[in-house]
Amino acid sequence: MGKLQDKVAVITGGASGIGAATARLFVSEGAKVVLVDLNEEKGKAFESELKALNADALFVKANITSEEEVANIFTQTIEKFGKVDIVFNNAGIGRVHPTHELDYAEWRQTVNVDLDGVFLVAREAIREMLKAGGGAIVNTASMYGWVGSPGSAAYNAAKGGVVNLTRSLALEYAEQNIRVNALCPGFIDTPIIPEESKLALAAATPVKRLGKAEEMAKAVLFLASDDSSYMTGNSLTVDGGYTAQ
Ligand SMILES: NC(=O)c1ccc[n+]([C@@H]2O[C@H](COP(=O)([O-])OP(=O)(O)OC[C@H]3O[C@@H](n4cnc5c(N)ncnc54)[C@H](O)[C@@H]3O)[C@@H](O)[C@H]2O)c1
Repeated sequence: MGKLQDKVAVITGGASGIGAATARLFVSEGAKVVLVDLNEEKGKAFESELKALNADALFVKANITSEEEVANIFTQTIEKFGKVDIVFNNAGIGRVHPTHELDYAEWRQTVNVDLDGVFLVAREAIREMLKAGGGAIVNTASMYGWVGSPGSAAYNAAKGGVVNLTRSLALEYAEQNIRVNALCPGFIDTPIIPEESKLALAAATPVKRLGKAEEMAKAVLFLASDDSSYMTGNSLTVDGGYTAQ
């Protein structure tokens, strides 16, 4: 039996990168997955790919910054699968700009997706989990929730916010059997990292390579499954040693 046998998992940013790798691993562990993404083409293609492997998968197009669209994710999940056990709150965007050249609109867009969106999805997840008597939420923050870096003020501020949002929600709902943890990836080889930056980011990492989305998925599986049943409020850093420097 898989570690997530018959569990229902909602995965935002599920069409690409860390979200897609996690969906594959969750399915292999017996979960039914709801793939949420703005990118309908990629999301639908991935849904078909998983279904062809006999997995239970549903794609829901949603922008995590819209209250209505986030509510609809959960309505559709309950309609199709009847419950929500796990939410991998993972969709995000990243941009690099010197702060003195950063438009307020871009600051707001980054914080809107990377922090407000995480709140909106977590709030809706908690509403369902309170009805069901528990669940597990894994938020994707970043190692930049722990340390700073030049040129990413909005992203880093939002990710730091996700780390402390995670602690706060964990404490607020601990007695309701809802565990809330975060994943803090280092530099991971996904489309969010521009091709031209990859060599330099690998060189800046103690293990001298980028991480793989599949390596993140294993950490998410740990945080989402009963293997981490005594963990809540934690932010797990998986970064090839970057923040140990
Ligand atoms: N790759 C890295 O190096 C790295 C490092 C630290 C943290 N992260 C975080 O990991 C998460 C996943 O990123 P990834 O590396 O897999 O990148 P990715 O670009 O491959 O995947 C992100 C997905 O989120 C979706 N998305 C973006 N905005 C959305 C919105 N408003 N509503 C719904 N979907 C939206 C995108 O369409 C995309 O499919 C992000 O939160 C990112 O900040 C990534």
